[in-house]
Amino acid sequence: MSEDKATFEAPSNIALIKYWGVLDAALCLPRNTSISMTLDRCVTTCTAEPIDAASDEIWLAGANGLVPPTPGFAEPMVRHLDQLRRELGVRSKLRIATRNNFPSAAGLASSASGFAALTLSAASALGRGLSPREASLLARRSGSGSACRSVLGGYVEWAAGSDEESYARPLAPAGHWDLRDVIAVVETGPKAISSRDGHALASTSPYFERRQELLPDRLARVRTALAERDFPTLGATIEEEAIDLHLIAMSSQPAIFYWSPGTLEILRAVRELRREGLPAYSTMDAGANVHVLCEPAAEGALVERLESLGSVGFVIRDGVGTGPERLTEHLI
Ligand code: DP6
Repeated sequence: MSEDKATFEAPSNIALIKYWGVLDAALCLPRNTSISMTLDRCVTTCTAEPIDAASDEIWLAGANGLVPPTPGFAEPMVRHLDQLRRELGVRSKLRIATRNNFPSAAGLASSASGFAALTLSAASALGRGLSPREASLLARRSGSGSACRSVLGGYVEWAAGSDEESYARPLAPAGHWDLRDVIAVVETGPKAISSRDGHALASTSPYFERRQELLPDRLARVRTALAERDFPTLGATIEEEAIDLHLIAMSSQPAIFYWSPGTLEILRAVRELRREGLPAYSTMDAGANVHVLCEPAAEGALVERLESLGSVGFVIRDGVGTGPERLTEHLI
């Protein structure tokens, strides 16, 4: 076994204030600051080991052992490895095995956890320990910008700014507030329009500049609600923000519709639950699935209601998590 073999598990994250729109697509510099909650159970595990070869080897680790990914899956990973080697001043090629424990490419930020886990395991296998800032900067440059938030646990803010300034910083540790995220899955296939294309089109929406004007106040409300553990304010603000993201997508030219009929069924059910006195609020990333946030006391009843909806295939019970972990068991 290679001594440089490294395995990391990195979680997905759910954006409370969304990254939508880029200043610089190549560097993944966001148009606006975003805030997220790192998840606990939806994770990518990635093993990296140096190999004496002319090119990297990428494998998907599944129930049936290692299988080669499609070229479309492997290419961005190899591009990211090339960039990491340039940044870290090393040459060695790597054998990579990666595994998600949740549906890939379904708006569940699989690329965020994937590129966070790849950044941490590859850097370690290449003999470089990374500070949290370096890890976040490098993960951001993967092309999946939200990966920069998945290198930290708890509640996280990713600042818009220059290449050296735009990285994720901790807002509060996971232990600050035990929030749950019940993910109602209505679609497991890959989304029709990638986030990358969505970011590129965002500024074609006639409402995009108005969104930028509204964001500073919305960001401040989320920061304060997190600090004060004020769930009604947090919930109302993140629901407003999620609708805003999809409004921008739907009014981009050409228009992008990430929602399915099931998305609307869930949004309606969550509003009904609130009228019945159960505090829960919805948010969606660039996909049809809905993340419903609640405090622990509401989780059981929320899961029951979501599971009863005809359009919900299954629910994933997740919540705030403590961030990436180095594992001693490897995938290869
Ligand atoms: C709507 O470019 O980070 O989820 O590469 O698909 O992970 P992926 O997306 P990325 O954009 C994320 C967009 C978003 C909002 C967010 O996570 O902030």
